Amino acid sequence: MFVEQNVPLQDSNAFGIVAKAYQLVRLRTEADVAALLAEPGLAAAPKFVLGGGSNIVLTGDVKPLVIKVEIEGRRKVSEDGRAVVVEFGAGERWHDAVAWSLAQGWPGLENLALIPGTVGAAPVQNIGAYGVELQDRFESLDAIDLTTGQAFTLDAAQCAFGYRDSVFKHTAPQTEGEGALPRGMGLAGRAVITRVRLRLPKPWRPVLGYLDLERRMAESGVAHPTAQQIFDWICEIRSAKLPDPRRIGNAGSFFKNPTVTPEQCADIIAREPGIVHYPMPDGSVKLAAGWLIDACGWKGKSVGNAGVYEKQALVLVNRGGATGGEVVTLARAIQTSVYERFGIRLEPEPVVV
Ligand code: EPU
Repeated sequence: MFVEQNVPLQDSNAFGIVAKAYQLVRLRTEADVAALLAEPGLAAAPKFVLGGGSNIVLTGDVKPLVIKVEIEGRRKVSEDGRAVVVEFGAGERWHDAVAWSLAQGWPGLENLALIPGTVGAAPVQNIGAYGVELQDRFESLDAIDLTTGQAFTLDAAQCAFGYRDSVFKHTAPQTEGEGALPRGMGLAGRAVITRVRLRLPKPWRPVLGYLDLERRMAESGVAHPTAQQIFDWICEIRSAKLPDPRRIGNAGSFFKNPTVTPEQCADIIAREPGIVHYPMPDGSVKLAAGWLIDACGWKGKSVGNAGVYEKQALVLVNRGGATGGEVVTLARAIQTSVYERFGIRLEPEPVVV
């Protein structure tokens, strides 16, 4: 197994933070995982799995062995009257997977166009946008346990998807027995996702209803958009309000939209009538974190070279040469002012490494 030393990671994290991996291995096939685990020095080393790097903040050089997943592949697994199931290697770019499926005549992922990162990272945080979450199109995934080398498959229930959350974001308790997989108990740092299968339902139905999309429909006069039309609109909407990580380093939304009880919401509305909020099916109320941050006056502000994006206050950006420490300091300052004004604790979306 070829181990690269002192590998720059600036181009491997969407924030564009300068840091290096002391040691890095690239996984191009499942067999590479077996080769990695066959080497005692590497098998025992602490590991960090890197996908597209679009949801991490690097606060220094990475000491654990970095595992860069570059497994490719796209294919139709099955098709019947109810759905097409497609499979992608974990290293494929998510947006390419969306565009490819559409080009094959298999729509269903168009609302998730232009989300940065890899297919393998998509289930980790259950990516979502414009009314669709990964879990709505998920069939199953293959992964390999990095402690035992055992391959396993998880369905949606076993992935324990939540809002920007899954079993891959939680660490497992220390007690499970040798070889026994801690299903539903936390796989962070323990497993590497190798392939993901997605279910695209038939007949295709557009997912509209999201304000920005409704606005596009009204403007264009198109009442029954095709999947391609929705794909194009989503690309336009995202490009207009979210910075392109290839030009301005960023990790998308930096905080989750918090949920509160209807009583808490009513209390806040009494003080802040303009607050953007959405009633949820379970009776709770989701608040727009971007609005909260904006209301605290953070839009366009900076700490060192880390800043709050001018067009969307939920997005923190690297203005050039930002350190992970600056991003974290800015994030904490935002959390403090939102807490002091609204009594709400914002939870970060990216993983701080
Ligand atoms: N808003 C402001 N000021 C701002 C930003 C937003 O007032 O600076 C208001 C907007 O006017 C709007 C509301 O807040 O009324 C919500 O904003 P937006 O529609 O941009 O969506 P969001 O809730 O901020 C979420 C996801 C995005 C996803 C969009 C579209 C989270 C944390 N973020 O953002 O996901 O693309 O909805 O579905 O759930 C990501 O997770 O990285 C991400 C980009």
